[in-house]
Amino acid sequence: MAGSSSELIYRGNSHDAQPASDGGGVMAAGHSAPKPPHKPLGPLRYLLAEQRLVFAFVGMAIASLVFLLAAPSGHGGGHEVMDGAAGVARLAAAGLAARQYSGVAARMAYEQRLPAVAGARVPLGLKRKGLRVVVTGGAGFVGSHLVDRLLARGDSVIVVDNLFTGRKENVLHHAGNPNFEMIRHDVVEPILLEVDQIYHLACPASPVHYKHNPVKTIKTNVVGTLNMLGLAKRVGARFLLTSTSEVYGDPLQHPQVETYWGNVNPIGVRSCYDEGKRTAETLTMDYHRGANLEVRIARIFNTYGPRMCIDDGRVVSNFVAQALRKEPLTVYGDGKQTRSFQYVSDLVEGLMKLMEGEHVGPFNLGNPGEFTMLELAKVVQDTIDPNARIEFRPNTADDPHKRKPDISRAKELLGWEPKIPLHKGLPLMVQDFRDRIFGDRKPHSVAGDN
Ligand SMILES: NC(=O)c1ccc[n+]([C@@H]2O[C@H](COP(=O)([O-])OP(=O)(O)OC[C@H]3O[C@@H](n4cnc5c(N)ncnc54)[C@H](O)[C@@H]3O)[C@@H](O)[C@H]2O)c1
Repeated sequence: MAGSSSELIYRGNSHDAQPASDGGGVMAAGHSAPKPPHKPLGPLRYLLAEQRLVFAFVGMAIASLVFLLAAPSGHGGGHEVMDGAAGVARLAAAGLAARQYSGVAARMAYEQRLPAVAGARVPLGLKRKGLRVVVTGGAGFVGSHLVDRLLARGDSVIVVDNLFTGRKENVLHHAGNPNFEMIRHDVVEPILLEVDQIYHLACPASPVHYKHNPVKTIKTNVVGTLNMLGLAKRVGARFLLTSTSEVYGDPLQHPQVETYWGNVNPIGVRSCYDEGKRTAETLTMDYHRGANLEVRIARIFNTYGPRMCIDDGRVVSNFVAQALRKEPLTVYGDGKQTRSFQYVSDLVEGLMKLMEGEHVGPFNLGNPGEFTMLELAKVVQDTIDPNARIEFRPNTADDPHKRKPDISRAKELLGWEPKIPLHKGLPLMVQDFRDRIFGDRKPHSVAGDN
């Protein structure tokens, strides 16, 4: 009876029992003395009574401890951004802001994130994935070769392309590969993706295409690059810009080194591309300095290979297509202007080395072998049709006279140099051009025509 009366009294303590300071329910259970007049407890007194506050604090401390211990060391999503920001904050506190330009702070922040990909706890039965990589312009000529290499390496690749100059056929062989996705999207509009690296190639590259809608070209270079830099910042991804030798304009220095600032016409018909790429480089460096973003800049020189657009006005594709169709090879001006030609697999190798390396750049990526247009025409004649005629036409506006990369920096810092000379690379693209130009015609019958 006494027990039940005690229990009853204890339960009702907020209304009937003695205040805790009086000994609480135990005291009340032992006595049948008349209760003191009812005195309501104030909220503060209630909180202080029976060590409630102490219990509350102990509870909060245990919860915090459990939360801290349970938080995973590797993670994705929003945490990745926090990690990067935390790394940057630590570096800033250590007074390392001056090292930003060399990319040290940004690299440390990025690398802090990477183990999250490589070392995160993966639930049993799930395979660990490679890097998640976006390739904008991945359905184009260079982009599609890059996608091939990244997938072969085991990465997950998302191609973002509006198919202006790109073709689905360039990446069709990856359809069904679970590591491959293609999103038809214009980079001028923002996009949200969770990725570790962004190769930003989206931009029409040949004069025919970039002059077709110059305002769109510069928008792609400026707004498109801004959008992809914004994405890289948001998710803490490393960003690589494919710039161009056109940033040197009609160069007054030969060969061109990366420290040369160029000689560019800001109001010419090529300016939408040249100045667009220069602005893209500026934006990239500003994000690097201002937002500690991990960036890389490649200045690509003339590149050729399978999957190039046919009839896009670029000299190699022009000559090859003309020779195959038995048309005269059109040489603009006197044909003595020089260009260097790099095979696409060499370029892709350089881009990947740059992305994985620790230097921001810019780096010239090109083949220093220099050819006049007439010499190139000769190689095409030797490879496809010795009887192909050459036809001279007036030169186009702002066509640079000389273009040859100095690649000492890439050799020294990236350990990269091109391996495939023109006379070896050219035959590798001829078959692809034959197939696309002559459609169903069998390659050997075309070869027989020659
Ligand atoms: N090939 C070269 O010789 C060369 C030389 C210098 C620089 N580059 C640069 O390399 C990159 C790739 O060049 P490429 O030769 O493969 O050209 P490409 O035209 O074959 O590829 C460009 C790709 O970008 C896509 N694209 C264009 N505008 C877009 C937009 N607004 N949104 C989404 N996608 C868009 C196109 O559809 C295409 O698939 C370009 O940035 C170019 O400036 C190339």
